[in-house]
Amino acid sequence: MGIQFKNVTFRYKGYKTEYKALDLINLDIAPKGEIIGICGHTGSGKSTLVQHMNGLLQADEGTVSVFDIALPNKKKIKLNALRRRVGLVFQFPEYQLFEETILKDVMFGPKNLKMDQASIESISKASLKAVGVDASLFDQSPFRISGGQMRRVAIAGVLAMQPDILVLDEPTRGLDPVGQKELMEMLFNIHKTHQTTLLIISHDMDVLGAYANRIIVMNQGQKIFDGDKDDLFSHPEFDQMNLDYPSSIKVMKHLHKEISLPYKMLYTMDDVIRHIKEHSHE
Ligand SMILES: Nc1ncnc2c1ncn2[C@@H]1O[C@H](COP(=O)(O)OP(=O)(O)OP(=O)(O)O)[C@@H](O)[C@H]1O
Ligand SMILES: [Mg+2]
Repeated sequence: MGIQFKNVTFRYKGYKTEYKALDLINLDIAPKGEIIGICGHTGSGKSTLVQHMNGLLQADEGTVSVFDIALPNKKKIKLNALRRRVGLVFQFPEYQLFEETILKDVMFGPKNLKMDQASIESISKASLKAVGVDASLFDQSPFRISGGQMRRVAIAGVLAMQPDILVLDEPTRGLDPVGQKELMEMLFNIHKTHQTTLLIISHDMDVLGAYANRIIVMNQGQKIFDGDKDDLFSHPEFDQMNLDYPSSIKVMKHLHKEISLPYKMLYTMDDVIRHIKEHSHE
């Protein structure tokens, strides 16, 4: 078992106010092999949801189990074990870099796990390599590289903990198109190599369409869809979900309507072009 939510409700509590940010969520996530996209309107509860997956937030009602650890749970040992298995990369993680060098920053997490020095260093270097940070940068300050590189370093810091499940809150936000593609390809490679389950929060339906196989849609603290992406984009109530179609689907719908090109659910523009070529002689 990976992650399981049972009837989870969570409220943010202010001095005199309460806000129900999660409302009776049920969810099952496999320990390996999934790429799950999470989308939904701003304020719908996406970040709140994923913060329950490594115990940063704990349910007011219902339970979350992560591998064999049941939450709510206040024991520090249990929470640390859980945070090792579920790596959470926050939105704009680069703001959390703080060490003098890139390598030291990545080594910070594994050091806290009390691994021996040689393993800490080799795992950290391997994680930096996996995210495409060149060895010539290891001893540089993390504050003297570009924003896109800083984000890679921050992700390497989470990878170095060798999590079983990797959760990323809007990983491509604010990156240029090339940087977005590189980052997503890198995450996809990690998934392919280790079958790591990835959960990716994104407003970008092109990203989710291209990489996710399952999509969860949040709306006002509730999960309103959870399933195959083909089923989402052909759902009769899609228009009420406040979501956009991936560009490839928009183009396919347009070509189907205007020139009667046979419709097919496709998720990249390369696939659309191939499809057009295949039917261009008909
Ligand atoms: N610390 C907090 N205290 C009180 N309310 C909060 C807090 N954090 C979030 N909320 C509220 O809970 C709701 C869900 O917030 P959350 O951050 O999970 O949404 P989100 O789907 O991640 O949105 P976005 O797409 O903008 O990142 C929002 O209405 C938000 O205003
Ligand atoms: Mg959020």
